This record gives sequence, C-alpha cells and structure tokens, in this order.
Amino acid sequence: MTLSGIEERFSLITADKEIFINNFSEDVKIGLTSESKHLPFVYFYDHIGSQLFEKICELPEYYLTRTETDILETNAKDIVSQFSAETVLVELGSGSSTKTRILIETFLERQRLAHYTPIDVSHQMLEESSYSLLKEYPDLEINAIAARYNEGIDHLDIRKEQQNLITWLGSSIGNFEKSEVTALLQHIQDTMHPNDRFLVGIDLQKDKTIIENAYNDTQGITAEFNLNLLTHVNRELGGDFELENFAHKAIYNEEIGRIEMYLVSNIDQKVFISGLDLEVPFTTNETIHTEHSFKYSLGDINRLAEETGLYVEQQWFDDEQLFSLNLFAPAAD
Ligand code: TRP
Repeated sequence: MTLSGIEERFSLITADKEIFINNFSEDVKIGLTSESKHLPFVYFYDHIGSQLFEKICELPEYYLTRTETDILETNAKDIVSQFSAETVLVELGSGSSTKTRILIETFLERQRLAHYTPIDVSHQMLEESSYSLLKEYPDLEINAIAARYNEGIDHLDIRKEQQNLITWLGSSIGNFEKSEVTALLQHIQDTMHPNDRFLVGIDLQKDKTIIENAYNDTQGITAEFNLNLLTHVNRELGGDFELENFAHKAIYNEEIGRIEMYLVSNIDQKVFISGLDLEVPFTTNETIHTEHSFKYSLGDINRLAEETGLYVEQQWFDDEQLFSLNLFAPAAD
C-alpha cells in the first residue's frame, strides 16, 4: 500500500474548536490562588509528560495497563464475535491506541475491512497514531475526531444500520468526578442504538497498599510525572518553581475510594510566576492537589449503569480481580 492509500483511508475532523483555546494561565492562576491549591491534571500531558506516562504504563507496580491488556488479549475474540463486520470501533481518549490494536487486529483477522474512529483532544496524537495504524494495517479505515468527549460523541456518524462499539480504556473514568461520569454515560446512552455497546476499563477497589504502590513506584517515575507539572508552569508561564523543594505524595482515601496525588512543599517558600505577575506563598507541608483516580466496587459499577440507562451485559477480570472490563448495553425502555 502506498502513502496515497493511507490518505484515502484517513479523515480527521475538528469537532470542538474550543479545545484550542488555551486556558492554561487562567487555570494555573485560579488553582494556585485557591485556599486549597490545585492544578488541573490535563496539563500533565505535555510532550515530556506523555512520554513519562508511557513509562508509567510499563512499571511493575502499575498493574492497570498490564491487567487490562491481558483481559483484552484473552477475550478479544469473544468480544469481536458479538459484532457485525460493519461495526465502527469508536475510542474515547485514544492517546497512542496501544491497547486498541488488540481489538483492531481481532476484527481484521475475522473480516476484510475494519473501521476505527478515535476521539482525542490532541490533534497531533490523532495524526501520529492514526498514521502508524494505517501503515501497519492496509485494511483499516480511520475517521478521527479531534474533540473533547461530549462534542466528539455528538459528531459520531451513527447510522442505524451500522453497529458501534464504543471503548473507553485505561480507567480514565477514574479521573473524572462521579457527577461528570454520570452525565457522560447518560449522553452516550442517548446516542446508542439497541445494538451498540460501550466497553469500559475500570480499576477496582482493593488493598490500599497495592493501589498506593501503583502511584508511588520505586523508580520515581510517577514522582517525575507529577513534578513535571511544575516544569510545565516554569516553561510556559515563567515560573521559578525549584523542583527539589517539592515532593510527590500519593495516598489512597479509603472513605471515598480514590487515590489522591499531591505535590508537597518541603519548606516555607515563595514562588514567582512572571507570566501571571503572581507570587505564590507555600508553608512547609502545604500541598497542591494535582490528580485523583476513583476506584470502583462491583456495586458501584452496577449502580452507575442503572443510573444512566445501561446495564452490565458482560464483565471480565484478570486472575487476581484487580481490574475490570465492562460491556455496557442500553437497557430496554
Ligand atoms: N487513568 C489512569 C489512572 O487513573 C492514568 C492516570 C491518569 C495516571 N493520571 C495519572 C497514572 C497520574 C499515574 C499518575 O491510573
């Protein structure tokens, strides 16, 4: 297949113009002048942050990627066998599409052509990962959508006669507030036809130490990833954060079932951010909340489905029941 072949099999639309409006400075200002300081996790993923995240996925302690990949590999045939040959595989937050390859390959082993629609906020990621997929799979067609989830879903070309398998992998669901998750699932349920399915990877509640170790690896990669947020502020907004004056901390909050990540100030200090003309004071042990990741119980998953007009049609686990892959179907009205 030549390069023109690739272009014929690829389209990319931008469904959400707002994603290009940079709110970084405003978000940093709001977060660092709040009484309990925080920074939005979306800014983890600059170029270095994305590379560090890929490294996190390969850490021995970070069981999420490994278990989800295992579950997909073991069950891909079973999953794919439930879908017609015209099925469009849709992916929310596709990133580098590594795990989705398993599903794409399984579709292509069974049929001549496969259709994939990744939805991601990063234009660059969409182009890079799509081109590498199209090169590798000459019988794959990609219609990518640059958008946030909700806008992307609105742009899905959902025709009655074609089935959609919408996927949301990596337990990204855990990084959203419960109210946001409910709203998103309701929106997805609204657009689904009776034959469409929604496949979601969800990390499960478990022993506190296993979870804390996953976000506190011995090589310090997660710490680097967390601290890189300050480097990002230094570079883009002219901050003078000294990285050695902050430490990474991840603790599991058992009461609400979520891991929380912080940057902790080691000393009393003042940080100046010239781009914002802002001085930010820190006392010793003061924290910046940077990320959290909810862990679900099986009961939580069923309740979530029920609240949003879905039901759990099938569910798969790894041997140790650390992680779950859930196939949601629209409940009959
Ligand atoms: N959604 C994954 C999780 O909650 C990936 C992730 C998001 C992550 N932010 C992170 C992993 C910060 C490590 C650190 O685990």
